[in-house]
Amino acid sequence: MHTGQRKIIIAIDGYSACGKSTLARALAKRLQYLHIDSGAMYRAVTLYFMRHHINIQDPQDVQDALEKISIYLTFENETQITWLNHENVEAAIRAPEVNQWVSPVSTLTSVRKEMVAQQQRMGKGKGLVMDGRDIGTVVFPEAELKMFLTAELDVRVERRWLELNEKGIVASREEVKNNLLQRDHIDSTREDSPLRKAEDATVIDTSYLTPKEQLQIAHDLARATIDRIKI
Ligand code: CDP
Repeated sequence: MHTGQRKIIIAIDGYSACGKSTLARALAKRLQYLHIDSGAMYRAVTLYFMRHHINIQDPQDVQDALEKISIYLTFENETQITWLNHENVEAAIRAPEVNQWVSPVSTLTSVRKEMVAQQQRMGKGKGLVMDGRDIGTVVFPEAELKMFLTAELDVRVERRWLELNEKGIVASREEVKNNLLQRDHIDSTREDSPLRKAEDATVIDTSYLTPKEQLQIAHDLARATIDRIKI
């Protein structure tokens, strides 16, 4: 009898700035899984479109651009580095201008098709925690464990504002709040793969939980899931 533990896919979805990536990274580290922040891929496409003045209303322009883009991820000390055509864009993709454009770009079906195909290939070997907006609903509808993170708006604004501040990016709380609201709206009302909770996802409100507490909850869920499917 085989007593090894099966590796699973863990999908973490939710609104902007409610702690998905921080939790996904910590959980992957604890489980010795790979963590993939799928938002970074949409951000890298957006950066390319901005730099090359791609008209996102023009499907041909978008298609031509997609053919020129190569996005891949590498990992250093378990931290993801996002590459766009062989350039490390990990810092550039977090800039406020990218925050402004990433949601409109992410509504495009041609963009989503490319990203989802690439993400699904990354999940082939399992042992993966992926965070985003459509991971439990579209990318891995069969994921063994799905979580949906929420947090109160003011908490999210404060977290994102601090994060930007630490990176030396100046933005007012009002600007951060408007961007989060705008992105949440576009992400949850778009036609293709809108942000929504998968029916079988567990909701975690992170508003009053420390990162350590969030990790404990997620890790307990993961262990229970892994034990359940142990063969
Ligand atoms: O870190 P934050 O929550 O602000 O955003 P992110 O995860 O980096 O994602 C940036 C944007 O990419 C989102 O606002 C979505 O528009 C898009 N996105 C998506 O459409 N599907 C995903 N699986 C991940 C991100």
